[in-house]
Amino acid sequence: METPGDGVKSTHPRRIATAYLPQRPHYWYARCKLAIDPLYAAVGETLHETTAPLLDLGCGIGLLAHTLRARGFAGSYAGIDNDANKIAAARAAAERADLGDVRFACVDLACETLPVHRGSVALLDVLQYLSPQAASELVASAAACIAPGARLVIRSGLDDADARTRFTRAMDVFSRRIGWMNSAPKRYPTRAGLEGLLARCGLSASFAPLSGRLPFNNWLIVGERI
Ligand SMILES: C[S@@+](CC[C@H](N)C(=O)[O-])C[C@H]1O[C@@H](n2cnc3c(N)ncnc32)[C@H](O)[C@@H]1O
Repeated sequence: METPGDGVKSTHPRRIATAYLPQRPHYWYARCKLAIDPLYAAVGETLHETTAPLLDLGCGIGLLAHTLRARGFAGSYAGIDNDANKIAAARAAAERADLGDVRFACVDLACETLPVHRGSVALLDVLQYLSPQAASELVASAAACIAPGARLVIRSGLDDADARTRFTRAMDVFSRRIGWMNSAPKRYPTRAGLEGLLARCGLSASFAPLSGRLPFNNWLIVGERI
């Protein structure tokens, strides 16, 4: 049976990372991330049966677009992020890799409204950078975009007050200290809070641990219209 890690290998991490050259930090970030993080393969599996357009909220340098296209995802892709440098890197790499039907825009998810969208939405490792209220509003806005048969795919650390949660926060603080992230983590959602919110938005939700080989408290949460 294919595991998420196996799926990532089949998408040729080195070829994807090469699209980020000549920016060597982005090249090495992509190499390492694709080698150790099961995230992109898991999202690819989740969107495997849909061609609904995808909106990727907090897309960073746009790695998801490359891995989805490598796995044959045929829907259109739009990525938004509030870090102008990452959006510029995402655009350049998508152009270099000749990814079709992919676009990027600079948007602040904490205070700007989402672009009009109907389809699937990805929200990967982003919620902790928003205030609890902004995070809840964002999840509700994302849920409203989900078409029948499409998916809301969230990865997030959950606030479980255990060692894994502390490691997750420590790595997010470290990412801020070294300048990779433009903000520090604020609060991680709770499972009960997310479950209740998604149910009120008319979505059924599944939760599965998704931390790879490192001791994060990361979960893959998939919402579908009931
Ligand atoms: C840990 S990275 C995840 C990147 C991408 N989702 C991935 O998994 O490859 C978190 C991303 O959220 C973005 N972000 C944080 N706060 C944001 C905000 N208020 N509006 C838009 N993007 C934000 C950061 O710039 C960063 O690119």
